[in-house]
Amino acid sequence: MNLPRNLLSLIVSSVLFGVCVSTDLITRESSIGDGDVLISSGGDFALGFFSPGNSSNRYVGLWYNKIPEKTIAWVANRDNPVNGTSGRLGIDKLGNLILYDTKRSISVWGSNLSLSSAVSDCIARLLDSGNLVLFQDGKKSTVLWQSFDHPTDTLLPSMKLGLNRTSGLNIFLTSWKSQDDPRTGTTYFMINPSGFPHLTLYKNQVPLWQPSPYNGVRLNVIPAIGQSSWFNFSIIIDANEAVLLSNVFNSSIYVRGVVQESGIVQLFTWVEKKSEWVTFFTKPEDQCDYYGHCGANGNCHSDSMDQIECNCLPGFTPKSPNDWSMRDSSGGCIRKNQESVCRNGEGFVKVADVKVPDTSVASFDKNKTLRECESECLRNCSCTAYADADFTRGGRGCLMWYGDLMDTREISGGGRDLYVRVDALVLAEFQKKGFLSRKKVLATLIVLVSAAAVISPVVYFVLVKNKRKGSEVGKELDRTTKDQELPLLDITTIKAATDDFASANKLGQGGFGPVYKVRQYFRDGWPVDRK
Ligand SMILES: *[C@@H]1O[C@H](CO)[C@@H](O)[C@H](O)[C@H]1NC(C)=O
Ligand SMILES: *[C@@H]1O[C@H](CO)[C@@H](O)[C@H](O)[C@H]1NC(C)=O
Ligand SMILES: *[C@@H]1O[C@H](CO)[C@@H](O)[C@H](O)[C@H]1NC(C)=O
Ligand SMILES: *[C@@H]1O[C@H](CO)[C@@H](O)[C@H](O)[C@H]1NC(C)=O
Ligand SMILES: *[C@@H]1O[C@H](CO)[C@@H](O)[C@H](O)[C@H]1NC(C)=O
Ligand SMILES: *[C@@H]1O[C@H](CO)[C@@H](O)[C@H](O)[C@H]1NC(C)=O
Ligand SMILES: *[C@@H]1O[C@H](CO)[C@@H](O)[C@H](O)[C@H]1NC(C)=O
Ligand SMILES: *[C@@H]1O[C@H](CO)[C@@H](O)[C@H](O)[C@H]1NC(C)=O
Repeated sequence: MNLPRNLLSLIVSSVLFGVCVSTDLITRESSIGDGDVLISSGGDFALGFFSPGNSSNRYVGLWYNKIPEKTIAWVANRDNPVNGTSGRLGIDKLGNLILYDTKRSISVWGSNLSLSSAVSDCIARLLDSGNLVLFQDGKKSTVLWQSFDHPTDTLLPSMKLGLNRTSGLNIFLTSWKSQDDPRTGTTYFMINPSGFPHLTLYKNQVPLWQPSPYNGVRLNVIPAIGQSSWFNFSIIIDANEAVLLSNVFNSSIYVRGVVQESGIVQLFTWVEKKSEWVTFFTKPEDQCDYYGHCGANGNCHSDSMDQIECNCLPGFTPKSPNDWSMRDSSGGCIRKNQESVCRNGEGFVKVADVKVPDTSVASFDKNKTLRECESECLRNCSCTAYADADFTRGGRGCLMWYGDLMDTREISGGGRDLYVRVDALVLAEFQKKGFLSRKKVLATLIVLVSAAAVISPVVYFVLVKNKRKGSEVGKELDRTTKDQELPLLDITTIKAATDDFASANKLGQGGFGPVYKVRQYFRDGWPVDRK
């Protein structure tokens, strides 16, 4: 190990060249010691030694230079502090960033790159974004290492949080242990890459909160975020990466996201007038935010008074009604009937305006339309639900779930429609409800059974379309029959659709004759053979 000698020369040169650095650069010739600060070129960020809270430990960190309240945005040696003022941050012979404790003669932290041969002319520069970058040469070209790839508890604008599928590097935030102690805590906020990648806040590896995986153009962390005219969040999920990106359009506005050890994630903005950080949001906020509050296949509802109510998704019933009545809904919901949901007349019931369930057990197909999604989900008996994942609506993209549906919650406005697989009985129930009680079914197969039908081989029927909006079932049928208001079907189709006019499928008697529930799905107004 010849590091110490190298370091010694480094230190000597620092002494020779003067130590009170106020540039944005660290080179092999100029290291910084306790008391020195680097300032980014625009003056937004500073880097130097500090002690958090009541601690006397010394850490290398990065803070806002223009803000009176010292706000640490990054810590280099969070798990390995320097005792006293003997720390020096420099670049070693190989080109690595290194924090050296001159008293103990050991390295306490480093960029730790396995650089095969000594890299000449390495420099570290503190950028105005709050990123400390190690460049291979004196110019800004090859990035060897950057602090944005190793964040602590703070998300800064233009930082990417998430997974690089090529390198396998998953960048995430981890809380400090306490205000005085920046050691790696137990709360972290990351992209979970399983199933369809999604952000999750964890505490001790247990999920605490999940934002909507996707809300079209913007990530629905909270609705207000997307509406801000000066910053937005977006999620990029493609073959190369699955990342959260934040963009701030006005660089004179400071925004930071912070993960706290108590198990929350917060977004702050600096308000100059008040000279303080204002909390833009805190999550999880209400009970429904807490992951899986209503258990498997539950749906969490929170009213304007913050009253929480757990419901089961259509076709499901509380697993333990007793616990449920005691407001312990953690047991979740199980299927209501013994009916099979596999090639047994099952279908889907729409649950409108929800945060869709955990996508860890979901697959994503960006090429499928909602209709294609439906038939694919119907075909595969382990598919429990599907949803439109189209970002612009009217285009393509679908999510399909395989297994229990966890962490669904109602969102009024800004949610998505979830289509839950239900057995034939439940399907009939929902269709009947839509037709009989509210008289809002938009399309009903009315079969004319008359004396004439007995004689004539032709059976007339009409699809009556009620234009009024409202029923969820109706809306769904409405879409499928969009372009064909009054199709004429032949008798075999009708017989197939009604199971040969089975009385189980008879919904009631109308002016035209008996009305039957149709077991088949429609495509462009025509029944689709599901065999
Ligand atoms: C520092 O110590 C004082 C006195 O013990 C206490 O009141 C204060 O809350 C502590 N500050 C932090 C950040 O822990
Ligand atoms: C730090 O150094 C002081 C004086 O050298 C010593 O008394 C103290 O125990 C050290 N603290 C730690 C945590 O090593
Ligand atoms: C540096 O890397 C080595 C092996 O790659 C690892 O054992 C060591 O813990 C790393 N050190 C730091 C400070 O990350
Ligand atoms: C992923 O990492 C590789 C290797 O470090 C890098 O070349 C590539 O640019 C990264 N991809 C993205 C999308 O950032
Ligand atoms: C956020 O802003 C950037 C820059 O204007 C833009 O390219 C991007 O589409 C926006 N993202 C969202 C989700 O609105
Ligand atoms: C950026 O924000 C600052 C402070 O709020 C404001 O004074 C300035 O006009 C904004 N600039 C732009 C381009 O919006
Ligand atoms: C999706 O569609 C694009 C363009 O039509 C095509 O290139 C791509 O292969 C399709 N992907 C899948 C998974 O079918
Ligand atoms: C159903 O979907 C699951 C999950 O994607 C898959 O593993 C399984 O092979 C599919 N089954 C059929 C019959 O396509």
